[in-house]
Amino acid sequence: MSDATLFLAIKSGGGAVGIRSSMPAFGDRLTNDEIAGLVSYIRGFCALSNRQSDSGMDASMRR
Ligand code: HEM
Repeated sequence: MSDATLFLAIKSGGGAVGIRSSMPAFGDRLTNDEIAGLVSYIRGFCALSNRQSDSGMDASMRR
């Protein structure tokens, strides 16, 4: 997932990016700055800095 896709998943929920809609939207509770901060925080979990491509997400992962 790109940073933009992660941002949209948090802001508008899973349904907005083609993953499960059980991931709720937080756009009504978090500012864009807070969401951008979460994206950076989530990126901090990655051991490798190159895991930012949507190409890593194949059709079987788009539930
Ligand atoms: C501020 C809190 C949260 C943040 C920052 C967050 C962030 C994310 C992100 C970035 C993803 C996409 C991960 C990926 O595919 O790479 C995701 C997926 C998901 N989230 Fe959340 N999430 C939050 C809260 C929640 C809550 C409260 C729930 C359930 C009640 C939830 C349920 C899910 C589910 C089920 C998925 C997987 C959807 C799928 O792969 O089809 N999340 N979340």
